[in-house]
Amino acid sequence: MANLLAAGYARVPGATGESGLAAYFADLLDPALTWEAIGWLRARTALPILVKGIVRPDDAARAVAAGAAGVVISNHGGRQLDAAPATIDVLARCVDAVAGRGEVLLDGGVRRGADVIKAIALGARAVLVGRPVLWRLAAGGREGVAAALGILRRELDLAMTLCGCPDVASITRDLVTSL
Ligand SMILES: Cc1cc2nc3c(=O)[nH]c(=O)nc-3n(C[C@H](O)[C@H](O)[C@H](O)COP(=O)(O)O)c2cc1C
Repeated sequence: MANLLAAGYARVPGATGESGLAAYFADLLDPALTWEAIGWLRARTALPILVKGIVRPDDAARAVAAGAAGVVISNHGGRQLDAAPATIDVLARCVDAVAGRGEVLLDGGVRRGADVIKAIALGARAVLVGRPVLWRLAAGGREGVAAALGILRRELDLAMTLCGCPDVASITRDLVTSL
């Protein structure tokens, strides 16, 4: 936190209280927000709107019904609610609930190419990567990030080869046998 002071942390609302950061994050959550906000936003941009933070099939269905172009199945990296489910465990049910009405992406714990192929097999269109990119940015700058993404890409290629998948379209749900 000492390093944040130079960046202007004292200006964050509540920063001078006992737990300023906690107060700040609590303040970010707006209880007045409803699904209608998606329609409001759609009226103001031509950009596709993805709703991130979905872990329930009914919420996934609500998001696309409300006009979202898709959802990001995410528990915010497991950093908000300890007991939140792993995104890979809820992915297939959310994909089924969206039923082709929008894109389904996934993030959270994607660390290896095999994690990517599992998410695609369970119906994700793509995955997103958080902390590995931040770690490599800190450790190796732009080249570090490129290297991290390159490792993931090569691991995905190898996993696809070992699964007998010549292209992404052939990565099918039956590859995950525990379902
Ligand atoms: C330092 C940090 C800050 C984050 N802040 C936010 C945030 O403000 N809003 C949000 O939706 N997700 C936030 N996330 C979650 C990421 O957007 C993403 O969902 C998560 O990092 C993906 O999981 P992974 O890091 O395991 O790849 C944050 C993640 C980290 C590591």
